[in-house]
Amino acid sequence: METPLTRNITLGKMPPDFAQYEKAGGYAALRKALRMAPGEVMAAVKEANLRGRGGAGFPTAQKWSFVPMGDDAPHPKYLICNADEMEPGTFKDRLLLEGDPHQLLEGMIVSAYAVQADVSYIFLRWAYKLAAQRLEQAIAEAYRQGYLGRNIAGSGYSLELHLHVSAGRYMCGEETALLNALEGKRANPRAKPPYPQVSGLWGKPTVVNNVETLCCVPHILNHGAAWFKNLSRSGDGGTKLYGVSGRVKKPGLWELPMGTTIREILEEHAGGMRDGYQLRGLLPGGASTDFMVADHLDVAMDFDSMQAAGSRLGTGTMIILDDKTCPVGMLHNLEHFFAQESCGWCTPCWSGLSWVEQILKGLEDGKGQVSDLERLQSHARLLGPGHTFCALAPGAAEPLQSGLKYFGDDFDRHIHEKRCPWK
Ligand SMILES: Cc1cc2nc3c(=O)[nH]c(=O)nc-3n(C[C@H](O)[C@H](O)[C@H](O)COP(=O)(O)O)c2cc1C
Ligand code: SF4
Repeated sequence: METPLTRNITLGKMPPDFAQYEKAGGYAALRKALRMAPGEVMAAVKEANLRGRGGAGFPTAQKWSFVPMGDDAPHPKYLICNADEMEPGTFKDRLLLEGDPHQLLEGMIVSAYAVQADVSYIFLRWAYKLAAQRLEQAIAEAYRQGYLGRNIAGSGYSLELHLHVSAGRYMCGEETALLNALEGKRANPRAKPPYPQVSGLWGKPTVVNNVETLCCVPHILNHGAAWFKNLSRSGDGGTKLYGVSGRVKKPGLWELPMGTTIREILEEHAGGMRDGYQLRGLLPGGASTDFMVADHLDVAMDFDSMQAAGSRLGTGTMIILDDKTCPVGMLHNLEHFFAQESCGWCTPCWSGLSWVEQILKGLEDGKGQVSDLERLQSHARLLGPGHTFCALAPGAAEPLQSGLKYFGDDFDRHIHEKRCPWK
């Protein structure tokens, strides 16, 4: 099984420096891309069927294709790597940032070349201090070696690349709030359209891509689209970093073929549930995805299969709910996070989430009423798609509405026993 994204990464070891990365075949994709026309690079990524790993699975080349090209295109154009990674339960980009920073830089430079960007930013989660250190070092090396700056490798193409450390809010990871944050403004999302590809950072064409998405790009150029598609067990190309946290024997992160089933990830790689614990449910792709249950274990973790099964692939990092943890308590914890991170722009989100949090706390404290269930259902509907400016609220609605569906008996027990049965 090939693991291109993590091939240079050994936990506990330093990442490859420039010389080691290049010796292992690094920057060959960049040199190859610079000999191709930007449109050819885009075509290779399109053919590979790379879908964005930031959560929504938007086809990467299609996103790039909206950027104005040619002599009349506005400049400067920007390419931004979204490394804000604050989704609860998600730690996949951290591995790539800390473990192989040159791979990310190469992916960013190739992608920037494809859309003819002039300036690039890595928008990094504030808490990722080690990643910041390693990225700074890799960026300096890439400048010294002529892979960043003016006239990259004598190609005539120039790119400036900067590291920007986020202010530290979940909201800053939403791509248009990220743009406002980079401009030094309050991190509220922007209305779309116009989309960032046309009018993004400082009103100029901008592409925002996730770390894992960008890390796939050099491998597509090196080995071809057919090879990339063959890595996957589904129609979406490539491998995927899958993670598991919770009461399993071996929590962790693995690079596996896209479309690996939940069962295989949970039982073979995470070693199954810890002794004495049973699986009750799981959030498959971070906190803002719908709960799945034991009936879903054979679903393939790819974008379309997960959607067909009523959830989302999201970030591909599962949070496990076991039989000794209160589902209402878990939801209270999650909704507290979402309420705290709401940017306050739309009423169903800022007001609704604090109500949801209060109702869940009341249930946990034994003060729940039968009417609370209807109120929670109604908030879940109003937080859902179409009522708010950005996807934070619909993301918060997903565990809530699926939690009410799968763990209704637990809610009833809290109300009728006037206490949390797990306390
Ligand atoms: C509240 C919120 C937080 C987000 N945080 C991140 C993040 O930390 N990293 C990320 O790549 N995408 C995040 N996203 C998704 C981005 O808006 C965007 O879709 C993504 O960066 C696009 O990259 P991709 O096309 O490579 O998937 C977030 C979205 C929302 C609504
Ligand atoms: S949904 Fe929430 S986080 Fe998103 S814009 Fe509205 S208030 Fe802000």
